[in-house]
Amino acid sequence: MTDENPYQPWIAKIISVKEEASGERAIKTFRLEFQDEEVRKKFSFLPGQCIMISVFGTGESIFAISSSPTQKDYIEVSVMRYGKLTKALHLKEEGDLVGARGPYGNSFKVDEWKGKNVLFLGGGIGQAPLRSVIDYCIDNRKDYGKIDIVYGARTSRDLCYKDEFAEMSKKDDLSIHLSIDVEEEGWNQFVGFVPDNLKRLNPSPENTIAITCGPPIMIKFVIQNLLELGFKEDQVYTTLEMRMKCGIGICGRCNIGNLYVCKDGPVFSYDQIKDIQGDM
Ligand SMILES: Cc1cc2nc3c(=O)[nH]c(=O)nc-3n(C[C@H](O)[C@H](O)[C@H](O)COP(=O)(O)OP(=O)(O)OC[C@H]3O[C@@H](n4cnc5c(N)ncnc54)[C@H](O)[C@@H]3O)c2cc1C
Ligand code: FES
Repeated sequence: MTDENPYQPWIAKIISVKEEASGERAIKTFRLEFQDEEVRKKFSFLPGQCIMISVFGTGESIFAISSSPTQKDYIEVSVMRYGKLTKALHLKEEGDLVGARGPYGNSFKVDEWKGKNVLFLGGGIGQAPLRSVIDYCIDNRKDYGKIDIVYGARTSRDLCYKDEFAEMSKKDDLSIHLSIDVEEEGWNQFVGFVPDNLKRLNPSPENTIAITCGPPIMIKFVIQNLLELGFKEDQVYTTLEMRMKCGIGICGRCNIGNLYVCKDGPVFSYDQIKDIQGDM
């Protein structure tokens, strides 16, 4: 954001648009490049942080940055078509301009997790913030132990980043476990919900951090199953998506309990939020 006005966005050009998931709740990944060279040089963020994107004449909304900070030339956001702003954004094409201000919020503790195994558990568009951490861990592969990615969506059409997972599955230093909710012809991976896939995989909690993001009901049962598997509350992290307006701790729109998601989060360990989960 500019020094004078915290709500003033920078101008960013859409340099590519990729369709990730089709159907009513389509998802597109927008690659953005700041137009001002100074901003391009100065902008930095950590995995888990968010950015407020504006479509001029329509409004603005917050999104997780889905690319890794190791990628310096651009940032990406993966956006599900939902309401007014996201429908307008989905109409944008390569070369169009949008506004962007941020980054906002805290981040995943990727530095503290060095030497640990990392288990990712994502559902639907909830994979967007996890993608930033996954790519960060892959780009710093020697710093992390075993990497397991458990990701599911309703149908195969709703799964994001399919070609990226196909590339990753060629590597022998990480494991991908995809699922869809109901049987489909030609699908040869797990059928069922993400928490059930987790139970089936039965990962060891030893020296492992688990990160989950997805629909609230998925997060609830993923965490329940992780605790049953022996994970401690401070080994489990999630990122929350409460409604936001200002993004900078002023409007009071995004609180759960006494926490502001935009300022204190969006990343929380389970021991921070377990008592206020009912407000989510
Ligand atoms: C920290 C954070 C990170 C996010 N990251 C992503 C991301 O990476 N990708 C992505 O696609 N979306 C993400 N979202 C959600 C995204 O901000 C909303 O989908 C978007 O603001 C919807 O705007 P809209 O104008 O299209 O919908 P609106 O027209 O504002 O809303 C349409 C309807 O949906 C409801 N609604 C909209 N947003 C939410 C919400 N967040 N929670 C509950 N109900 C809602 C509204 O109340 C309304 O009923 C994130 C949200 C937060 C807070
Ligand atoms: S979005 Fe305004 S206080 Fe959090």
